[in-house]
Amino acid sequence: MKKTILLGVCFYLALCLCACSEAEAPEPEFVLTYAENQAQNYPTSLGGERFAELVKERTGGKVVVQVKYAGEYGTDEEVVSQMQFGGIDFARISLAVIADEVPILNALQMPFLYQDAAHMWRILDGETGTELLQVFQEAQLIGLSWYDSGARSFYSTKPIRSMEDLKGMSVRVQNSQLAMDMVSLLGAEPVYVDHNDVLYAFETRKITAAENNWPVYQYMDHYQVAKYYTVVEHTRVPDVQIASQRTWEILPEEYRQVILECARESALYQRNLWVRNDIFARAAVIDSGCEIIFLEPEEKLKFRETVQPLYQKYCGDHLDLIKAIQAEAAAPIGTGEGSSAPEP
Ligand code: GCU
Repeated sequence: MKKTILLGVCFYLALCLCACSEAEAPEPEFVLTYAENQAQNYPTSLGGERFAELVKERTGGKVVVQVKYAGEYGTDEEVVSQMQFGGIDFARISLAVIADEVPILNALQMPFLYQDAAHMWRILDGETGTELLQVFQEAQLIGLSWYDSGARSFYSTKPIRSMEDLKGMSVRVQNSQLAMDMVSLLGAEPVYVDHNDVLYAFETRKITAAENNWPVYQYMDHYQVAKYYTVVEHTRVPDVQIASQRTWEILPEEYRQVILECARESALYQRNLWVRNDIFARAAVIDSGCEIIFLEPEEKLKFRETVQPLYQKYCGDHLDLIKAIQAEAAAPIGTGEGSSAPEP
């Protein structure tokens, strides 16, 4: 008898517990989608995950963001066009993907524009970066925060020790007119391939080179097929977290504020992760036997000078902005001079 009563009490308590936990998890008011084209353990993906956690926590579970990785929602271009119709709510994309549509954004991704990462962050964290997040509205998008994507360099199946070596190579580029023109000026053939198909394009010899940062080279296994990494650091193309303007308009103001705050916090988290992953990726590819090629200064200068016409073509209407960005470069130690960035 005692045993039956005890069992009954346990059963009742268990029911109460279930009811309580159901009552504690509120029904979300908004379940929103987030597109990320990198694998789940990549720094930008972990940033997206952190963003989703923060939003859930700070809206008391009323706004839930579901992150899909590895291009599950399509290529960056497909994601952007779906966002313009409100089909996807959030994404982390490369600036290169949107700059053809909103040309002033090219001013943040010109070749040899920044002296180093610190210079780029002074711009993105400052007035220019904040103002340029607003112009995404021209493409029916809301710019939320800047993510780190390091510096891009060339990697290839045969060593690139000079500009001459690029001749005759088929170089994978992003879907960006600026990137295509840059590679053409450098004497190679630009080939657009989606980010998630680059390894296959190397394997099938559609391309013989690509250009990207250290983490992509390592995480995406490109180093297995393209054993030579030439440190040109020709561009720093920032990544950006965006929202669909359609979604933004239906969100109550209090949630918009929380989302903005969480996006910025997730960006700080991502930037931190980036620095560590960048070092890790370099070490891993060197360990695996890849050859890392550093250009002689005069050789690097040839790359810089060759791509100068792009400034007039892509930023002809914004040369003042370019000058202002260049003026933020630190003076080289001991010279007492200003920017070492190229003249537009
Ligand atoms: C960067 C960016 C990716 C992008 C990739 C590319 O690494 O973070 O989102 O897809 O460049 O070259 O396609």
